[in-house]
Amino acid sequence: MRPPTSASLSTGFEFATPERVVFGIGVAGRIGGLAAPFGRSVLLVTGREPGRAEPVRLALEQSGVAAIGFRVVGEPSVTEAGTGARQACEAGVDAVVACGGGAVLDAGKAIAALATHPGDPFRFLEIVGQRLPLERDPLPFLALPTTAGTGSEATRNAVLTSVDHALKVSLRSPRMVARAAVIDPALAVGLPPELTACTGLDALTQLVEPWVGCRANGLTDACAREGIPRVARSLGRAIARGDDLGARTDLAFGAYLSGLALAHSGLGAVHGLAGPIGGRFREAPHGAVCAALLAPVWRVNVEALRRSAADHPALGRYRQAAAWLTGHPGASIEEGLRWIRESVTGWNVPRLSRHGLTARDFPALATAAQASSSMKGNPIRLPDEALVEALAEAL
Ligand SMILES: [Fe+2]
Repeated sequence: MRPPTSASLSTGFEFATPERVVFGIGVAGRIGGLAAPFGRSVLLVTGREPGRAEPVRLALEQSGVAAIGFRVVGEPSVTEAGTGARQACEAGVDAVVACGGGAVLDAGKAIAALATHPGDPFRFLEIVGQRLPLERDPLPFLALPTTAGTGSEATRNAVLTSVDHALKVSLRSPRMVARAAVIDPALAVGLPPELTACTGLDALTQLVEPWVGCRANGLTDACAREGIPRVARSLGRAIARGDDLGARTDLAFGAYLSGLALAHSGLGAVHGLAGPIGGRFREAPHGAVCAALLAPVWRVNVEALRRSAADHPALGRYRQAAAWLTGHPGASIEEGLRWIRESVTGWNVPRLSRHGLTARDFPALATAAQASSSMKGNPIRLPDEALVEALAEAL
């Protein structure tokens, strides 16, 4: 089998990243100074436990920035983002600061965009809306991730649930990239083991899918090369000891790189399936769904690639990913698959049935996944039957 070659640069690429990326243990304390140039008040978007963002609120207030709280529980809907935007407008805030997991960051990012675009948000949404471009810049948006998962601090889209359509869709614009990403690995220290596992495996998926996918480019390859080994070697350590700051730092950096990778080369069938699953089963956390699907999709993709061509270039990339995951340079694709399966089982990642899925749901989920933007990045076109097979293995 051929070793993986560097992705072609012949088609070029465009790169967008937060204006400022401030990374390191303790940098959350700098949020006041980073937010103050934008004005005197911000909407502070937090998750289920706003108390976790109290140090951020204090840091803002010490810099003379008033923080008006907005709490998001679970993954945000279009309606919730609209409510937050109205609250931001009524309070006349100058910026939006989001401190939380991927759902909170996506909510904050969407609120910042919708606050400068009153009216029906569906006109800007993909798939279920008109996909019109944003007409104005959003309010300045500053992101402080407290989990190492979605990489939302690096991306230009916000994933929102359209409850009426039972779908997760993106509000997407190059204007939506954060003005500052403040990535403090210490913010994740209190994260329980199961959440650390699922969010970390989401980040890992967001590095593997761009690496093996058909839209890989030199820049996203660099993200994968740096990110996959870091997440693979540190995730187990952070699960075993939540206060291992070295491991938390690797994961925070890996998650940021995963956001850069997915924003610039798309994803694949894991995320293609995770979108409709998240839309229909709103209690199913995105990270847990991706974690459960990573090994099954790896298997069906490899089988389809081998059927298509024994020396398909993506197979070399799977082999390289296996080497990074296992830490063994000569590892086979199957050894990489085994590493994922054993990790997912050992770290108690819930199977899809725990979120209420049954085999009856599979055909509709496969059909919906085929229409998703993520599926276009998969290394090979998969028929519905292959997607159903992956879902069955993850059930
Ligand atoms: Fe993800």
